[in-house]
Amino acid sequence: MNRSWWKESVVYQIYPRSFQDSNGDGIGDLPGITSRVGHLKTLGVDVVWLSPVYRSPNDDNGYDISDYRDIMAEFGTLADFDAMLAALHRHGIKLMMDLVVNHSSDEHAWFRQARASRDNPYHDYYIWRAPAEGGGPPNNWEAAFGGSAWEWNEATGEYYLHLFSKKQPDLNWENPHLRSEVYDLMHFWLGKGVDGFRMDVINMISKPYGPDGRLPDAPVVKAGFLQPCFGAVTNGPRLLEHLREMKREVLRHYDCITVGEAPCATTRQGMELTNEQGGALNMLFQFEHMELDSVPGHPWGKWGCKPFELRDLKASMTRWQDELVGRGWNSLYLSNHDQPRPVSRFGDDGAQRVVSAKMLATFLHGLQGTPYVYQGEELGMTNFPFRGPEDLRDIESINFWREAVDGRGEDRAAVLDAIRRKGRDNARTPMQWDATPNAGFTSGTPWIAVNPNHAEINVAAEYDDPDSVFQHYRRLIALRRSQPALVYGRYRPILAEHPQIYAWLRTLYDDRLLVVCNFTASPAEFRLPDELDVVRWPLLIANYAVDPAQDLRCFALRPYEARIHRLQ
Ligand code: NOJ
Repeated sequence: MNRSWWKESVVYQIYPRSFQDSNGDGIGDLPGITSRVGHLKTLGVDVVWLSPVYRSPNDDNGYDISDYRDIMAEFGTLADFDAMLAALHRHGIKLMMDLVVNHSSDEHAWFRQARASRDNPYHDYYIWRAPAEGGGPPNNWEAAFGGSAWEWNEATGEYYLHLFSKKQPDLNWENPHLRSEVYDLMHFWLGKGVDGFRMDVINMISKPYGPDGRLPDAPVVKAGFLQPCFGAVTNGPRLLEHLREMKREVLRHYDCITVGEAPCATTRQGMELTNEQGGALNMLFQFEHMELDSVPGHPWGKWGCKPFELRDLKASMTRWQDELVGRGWNSLYLSNHDQPRPVSRFGDDGAQRVVSAKMLATFLHGLQGTPYVYQGEELGMTNFPFRGPEDLRDIESINFWREAVDGRGEDRAAVLDAIRRKGRDNARTPMQWDATPNAGFTSGTPWIAVNPNHAEINVAAEYDDPDSVFQHYRRLIALRRSQPALVYGRYRPILAEHPQIYAWLRTLYDDRLLVVCNFTASPAEFRLPDELDVVRWPLLIANYAVDPAQDLRCFALRPYEARIHRLQ
């Protein structure tokens, strides 16, 4: 196994709009981040992934970029950016930018030109098609935020493709000029000293063109004309070729970290894209474990919720761990700005919040891969009790509400329940720094409501409490740094059929670590398999007090108990 700094790192994601406001406009900003570098240092993370800070009309909170080389006015200036980068580097923390190049904003200068006429040199930077034979959009693709993925452009008499909102037109990666513009902008940021990129929906850049240039219909899986198209548009025929070119033109010239967001990715694609010889990226964000609480094929898509099953989580994680070992590298995440809070989703955000958040953290850091911690996760922040559409800010949730309740007359309570469980705004409520009215996030009116539980769950309180979720994350990050087996050790599950316990070994040479997690609110009996020969089991970390005299070979795990032992 080759050693690399990005394998040994823990990454912390900042969603700038919600992290820290410095000027009282209710919106987080770059000077705000600079003022909080001490928090990152105390936590012990190595790298920050910063969600987009580029100029943007904010149809999708910065994932719609109108100028790739400038900063969104609400977040500050390029000088503020340089100051933030310098502060991070002074503390030994690297910075990973968000690279959003599957699409731009419709307000980007390229698109303004592109849509003006078919002869404009920028026209071919985007994807245009004539109406279908009988009229209407060229195919049945449904955009991720609802409606058709095609929007009519009067000036040229064509449709353009947008896999997300109509203000996010897809870029045409078949065009070499577009590709070289992307490589130039990557050089611009890497030249400033940033340390890598998280690449937004990068496995959608190569579209599945038929021999005649047509984009084929997606399979019909639900009633109506429009059909989900992610299966059809991910992992297209030229994806690896484009990413290898990007590696050759840009990435190989820097010692940088890369992670590609890859919906629908399989382990085979994970190996192909992340292996150190022929691949192009360090790791992917795959989505399998994020889909375990959705009903497959539900007409509501991700909003069709069901409880997750531990056996499904084990099967999925084990497959990714086994299939990428020595052939690629995993990212490890339970949350980000697109996902609900993990303690509400996979743990218990009521009475067992603290222990279950620590159990989930132990699970995450105990696997092989690079862990990603999303802001507030290190506090055990929870989902938000949305009261109705007036509380929502996210285009995805707002559009779902409009289509389902206003459009189809679906039951309001059921739709609200789904949004409370899965809505992206759960992750976007402001970071909870202290118990003051706006949680120390802003002196103004926050752009999205602060979670009412900030009086109890906040950084200040958790710094002072040795048993807090924060302190547990801090200890886990330090432990991973001191235990090479946690980074590089081979993963082997044990008790695979146990309905409550997820347990595995991490083995590096003659060092053996055991990770045990009770994923339920009930006690669970743990029995070490007989073939594991152990005489001593020093404890490395736990989320409860552990009796040193306890025999590890058979004991009762308490609700959501999690531990890591060394086996000797
Ligand atoms: C994935 C990003 O994480 C998400 O926030 C965004 O809405 C879409 N890609 C479109 O850029």
